Amino acid sequence: MKELAEILLTPEQIAARVQELGAQITKDYQGKNLVVIGILKGALPFMADLIRQIKVPLRYDLMAVSSYGASTKTSGAVQILKDIEMGLEGEDVLVVEDIIDTGLTLNYLLRNLQARHPASLKVCTLLDKPSRREVEITPEYNGFVIPDRFVVGYGLDYAERFRELPMIGVLKPEVYQGK
Ligand code: IMP
Ligand code: MG
Repeated sequence: MKELAEILLTPEQIAARVQELGAQITKDYQGKNLVVIGILKGALPFMADLIRQIKVPLRYDLMAVSSYGASTKTSGAVQILKDIEMGLEGEDVLVVEDIIDTGLTLNYLLRNLQARHPASLKVCTLLDKPSRREVEITPEYNGFVIPDRFVVGYGLDYAERFRELPMIGVLKPEVYQGK
């Protein structure tokens, strides 16, 4: 990929970690009413792989929120573009995210979901950039802690591009500096 300056995580590394996360979640959710909520669009590949590594019955739904334009910085203004269709009262809800950066998106989302009275509410993120956090959020399940670099691939985009890449890499600065 000529737009990538560096590959951070190979498809094999991602798959191995997703399997571990699935095993952990399987252990923790025995006998629970697991509802997985994937956050579109970035979490789609991760969620699709993760649910097939979770060996307890589950239901899933999808939500779309928006806090970013074609920019690498968050605006902090979160909007629900698509809500889930199922009720969450009494359910054990696991939110699946692609990346936690400032935490502003998830902070808003968790408050919103908590108001629907789930039995439990936890977060599984593939990537975490803790150095950029503006609100305190600690995901219960965390694939990889990464440095403060803008990454793309495996669902993560820059201006809707690169989501289809099987690996996660750092975009060459000139790809977005030229815009
Ligand atoms: P937060 O609200 O700052 O935590 O931002 C979370 C959202 O920002 C993620 O769901 C991504 O859509 C986007 N985002 C944050 N960092 C990156 C990155 O390095 N690459 C691609 N998208 C990112
Ligand atoms: Mg995005």
